[in-house]
Amino acid sequence: MNLPPRLEVTASFVPPCECLADIGTDHAYIPIHLIEKGVIKRAVASDIAAGPAKIALRNIKRHGLEDRISVVTGYGLEPIDCADVIVIAGMGGKVICDILTAGEKVARSARLVVIQPMTMVMDVRRFLSEKGFAITDEAIAKEGQKLYNIMAVRTGEEIIEDDIYFYVGKRLVEKKDPLLGEYIGKRIAALDISIDNMGNSVGELEKREQFISLKKQLLEVLDDYRS
Ligand SMILES: C[S@@+](CC[C@H](N)C(=O)[O-])C[C@H]1O[C@@H](n2cnc3c(N)ncnc32)[C@H](O)[C@@H]1O
Repeated sequence: MNLPPRLEVTASFVPPCECLADIGTDHAYIPIHLIEKGVIKRAVASDIAAGPAKIALRNIKRHGLEDRISVVTGYGLEPIDCADVIVIAGMGGKVICDILTAGEKVARSARLVVIQPMTMVMDVRRFLSEKGFAITDEAIAKEGQKLYNIMAVRTGEEIIEDDIYFYVGKRLVEKKDPLLGEYIGKRIAALDISIDNMGNSVGELEKREQFISLKKQLLEVLDDYRS
């Protein structure tokens, strides 16, 4: 099964393993793809809602994989008793953090958790750092004009020396991700809009200064990246 770039990059973060849990599976494309490629032996495809679980089961049957992928329903990691690797993709950053908090024991017992937050990526990086999850790898995928962040996470202390790494992932900078320049460009454009639209109240002037300083730091990261 061929996957679109967001799911392809997410799936590429999954190492060979016995059992994968795909949380918020919807169509179950990730486990189907990884079994067909021989990366994983079996999987649990889980979703909170009955409709997506039904779609998952239909796709799994279509690919003749019902003996390798089981479908369960429930909140986050609740239906999962054990998994070598966990994928939580295509949900808002807040939902992903809530799932990791509620299912912390299961998340920490996995070898790796691959997350792909659709929103609030900076808050997710901060949450992971505060909770004692280290980001071991990170990548950006592009579909149309949209960029998506994918992170591999496991239990472990990570020293974030500088707040800028909550804005641009440290691993993205270290490995000079091919899409990092474009990613930073978009962040700067968003900051410029916020800066231009700010008023003159004390609070807004303070925020403005913070945004200007952040923009300066992002430009420095961009300069290093291009050099
Ligand atoms: C947009 S789809 C993403 C599907 C797939 N993972 C992807 O990345 O393309 C989000 C799915 O997550 C499910 N979902 C949302 N909150 C959830 C939760 N707390 N626990 C499990 N599944 C959840 C939704 O029902 C939906 O099927």
